[in-house]
Amino acid sequence: MKKDVIIACDFAGREQTLSFLDRFSGRKPFVKIGMELFYAEGPQIVREIRRRGHPVFLDLKLHDIPNTVKKAMSVLRDLDVEICNLHAAGTVRMMEAALEGLTRSDGTRPKLIAVTQLTSTDETALREELWIDHPMRDTVMHYARSAKKAGLDGVVCSPLEAKSVHEACGADFLTVTPGIRFAGGEAGDQKRVMTPSDARAQGCDYIVVGRPITAAADPAEAYERCLREFAKPDGET
Ligand code: C5P
Repeated sequence: MKKDVIIACDFAGREQTLSFLDRFSGRKPFVKIGMELFYAEGPQIVREIRRRGHPVFLDLKLHDIPNTVKKAMSVLRDLDVEICNLHAAGTVRMMEAALEGLTRSDGTRPKLIAVTQLTSTDETALREELWIDHPMRDTVMHYARSAKKAGLDGVVCSPLEAKSVHEACGADFLTVTPGIRFAGGEAGDQKRVMTPSDARAQGCDYIVVGRPITAAADPAEAYERCLREFAKPDGET
């Protein structure tokens, strides 16, 4: 499995996103498109970014009844993205239905990963609002195992959880991890952060990096730095 850096393109609209991507003259970075941009610009923005040659992680976090998710996934399937996602809380049956919807007639499909528990949910909200009487860590691992059971390819998780997820679900089960900051960089609103090289040491498969690249004076340089630290060729430490 090849490790890669995914840039979170958390921009409000098309112009801003495309002029940001214009700054990368060499290799076309893997980009994450989230709800804000997708709801503002629609599927056309995904097609345009794909046409420019960028692999895309479409971060729409679906969660509905199995039939609805299956049909929605069959629409997303035709956008030719690399990775889609959903909430594991939607149940194993919903995740299985999502996979059916995503699978093309030739058997190929985008990778599908699950959100276990949002990092914005703390232990108190887990217990008092969601009424889940297990510690956060156990809950995250349980949801990761449900995603594995449903046949998904991996989960979005904290880099701090990547090792345990691999132990519980196998080395091939993908860990896609946000919450990345350069050593000495601003954490912003992220509570638990890790550097690209520490994320590599934890065995993360992909890191999702937003502001350390999007808000950098030279985004292309910051991206190259992430690649150097996280995705060095095998054999280097
Ligand atoms: O700017 P920053 O590097 O914090 O961006 C991280 C990206 O990963 C954002 O798009 C954020 O929404 C997303 N994300 C996250 N934590 C999660 C799930 C997604 O930071 N648990």
